Formats: sequence, structure tokens, C-alpha cells
Amino acid sequence: MTTLDDLPIRDDLRGLTPYGAPQLAVPVRLNTNENSYPVPEPVVEAIGKAVAAELRDLNRYPDRDAVALRADLAGYLGHGLTVEQVWAANGSNEIQQQLLQAFGGPGRTALGFTPAYSMHPLLALGTGTRWIPAARRVDFGLTADEAVAQVREHAPDVVFLCSPNNPTGTALDPAVVTAVLDVAPGMVVVDEAYAEFARPGTVSALAVLPGRPRLVVTRTMSKAFGFAGGRLGYLAADPAVVQAVQLVRLPYHLSALTQAAARAALAHRDALLGTVAATMEQRDRIVAELRGRGLRVADSDANFVLFEVGGDQSVAWRALLDAGVLVRDVGLPGWLRVTAGTPAETGAFLSAMKKLSWEREE
Ligand SMILES: Cc1ncc(COP(=O)(O)O)c(C=O)c1O
Repeated sequence: MTTLDDLPIRDDLRGLTPYGAPQLAVPVRLNTNENSYPVPEPVVEAIGKAVAAELRDLNRYPDRDAVALRADLAGYLGHGLTVEQVWAANGSNEIQQQLLQAFGGPGRTALGFTPAYSMHPLLALGTGTRWIPAARRVDFGLTADEAVAQVREHAPDVVFLCSPNNPTGTALDPAVVTAVLDVAPGMVVVDEAYAEFARPGTVSALAVLPGRPRLVVTRTMSKAFGFAGGRLGYLAADPAVVQAVQLVRLPYHLSALTQAAARAALAHRDALLGTVAATMEQRDRIVAELRGRGLRVADSDANFVLFEVGGDQSVAWRALLDAGVLVRDVGLPGWLRVTAGTPAETGAFLSAMKKLSWEREE
């Protein structure tokens, strides 16, 4: 049988396995930071109608510039943003890939502060961009001084900041963003996939976009909107950045069905975003309960929580799975990440954890 290694594949891809969390059929799936709430029935109907209206015209390519959708996204973001400052693609992963295609690539570098979103280095790999892992503090924090020193040292072409940071959960002060931008020679991408879940008072990097053409904010409908299956991510930046990614995007990358479905979802944003408050409540419940049991827990502005298990995280991960609860082992010794789900799912996780701590104390 032919194996991958028998093929003339790129040397830097040899021996790798595809990225992806396990998709296991367990009762409580809290490992990929999805929104646990299904799409509400009126929104299902609206998306169905919008998609159906496109079907007869599927013989034609879609609007390759997705202008109507981008205008809707600009309206949602506010901050005075216009359609020229917004770009959309199949998930924020594709947006970030396009950014690396345009601003990274062979002979160029991208830097991120680990632990952060594990797709950033993989997107760098795929686009031939050399990845530079910079460090966060042991408590997962990142101050402007620490970030600036590392960006100065490496002078990367692209800096990734993740706020709220996955997997740690904490949002960045926009002062860190502007300080990094001041010393970065290239682009600064702020991945705000979880922005809608941030604690009150958290300021988005969108607020500091004006007059900063090397700053890009990426967002997604996968999390707060509960639209992960719809695959819709987007960016906000200077119009010149949008022009740059248009040089590398595939023609007609965003299907007519995706554009129609996303527009219908956006039109019903109040219904979809109605689950955000409930999710934040469960997130805060997890933080408070686990802290109450004496475990260390990172502050969270997202729909997930990073917590210390008080032992080997791979053993704890397996024990939780055996109890029917799937969480994420992000490879941080002693820590696991859990998504805040429905009250029932959160309850199942907390009970499974109780058993775990009881076993730990025995
Ligand atoms: C920080 C971060 N950015 C981006 C994404 C990808 O989102 P999308 O579904 O928009 O590709 C995720 C998904 O987990 C994420 O955690």
C-alpha cells in the first residue's frame, strides 16, 4: 500500500498528522469551544428560506466579493466600519491563512505567544512561513513590555495576538496591541474569535483600528453565533489589507449558499447571540466552582475555561471521558480546557470533576 511518505510530499510535511480534536460520540462534548445551543427554529426557517432562494441560480458563480455579506458584517461590528474594511471567508482559519499568504510566505516569519491557538503555527507551516514561538508568563499573562521585547528581538513579518486567548481564556489589554504595533515591522493580527464572551469592560482591538493600517482584527461566527457548521469568519482592517487578501483568495471562495446562510443568521443575530449570556454564566460557574475546590483556574473572557487538574492531565482527560465528558488536552502539563455548555452539560462536567478530585485525595 502506498503511504504518504512514498509520495513526493514537501519535506516539512513529512511525518505530520492532520490537525483536529477527537470527534467522539460521547454524551457531553465540551472540547472544541462550540456553542452548545442548537440554532433556534425561527432562525432555521429563515436560513432555509435564504438558502432555498439561491438554489435556482447555482448554475452561476457567487458574488466573489461577497459585498452584501461584508456590508452586513460591518454593520454588526459597528465602530464606523464600512464594507471596504471587512473581508469574509470560510471560517477565521481561512482568513488567517489568506493573511499569511499575503504577508507571510517563504523567507518570512510569523510570531505568536504560546500557549495560544494551535492553528496559527500550522497555518504558518502550510504557507511556508517560518514560525517563531514567543513566550507568555507562567501564569499565561502577557504584558506590553514582555510582548514588545520579543517582537523587537525577532522583528517578525506577522505577529499573532489572540484575545481572548485560546487556550488560556484571558483577553488582552488593547495597550498591548498598540505597543506591539509600535515596534512590529509588519502586520499585527488580533484573533478575536471569542470577543462576544468577554467580561464587561473588555475593549476590542477594533477600537484602536483607525489610523493603524498594519493592524487586523479577525472574528468568527463559529462561537457566539453558534454557526460553526456554516463556516464564516471575517476580518476588519484598513481597506488596503482587504485589497491585499483579495490578491491571494481563491476566486468564488465563499459559496452562494454560505453567503445567503450567513446573511440570514446575521439578520437574526439577537436570537443567535441570545445564548451568549447563558454561556458566560456557565463559564463563571465553572471558574467559581473549581476555584472553590482549590484548583487553579485561568481568568476567562471566552466560552471555555483552562483549569489545573491537580495531577497528570492525560489521566484526568481519560477519567472525564470515561464519565462521558469530552474536554480538551491542549498539551499543557497539569491543565485541561473545558467549553462552557448548557447548565446540564456544565453540571455533568462538574460532577465528573468532583469524582476526579475525590479519587485524587484517596
Ligand atoms: C482563537 C481561535 N481562532 C480561530 C478559530 C477558528 O474559528 P473558525 O471556525 O472561524 O475557523 C478558533 C476555533 O476554535 C479559535 O479558537
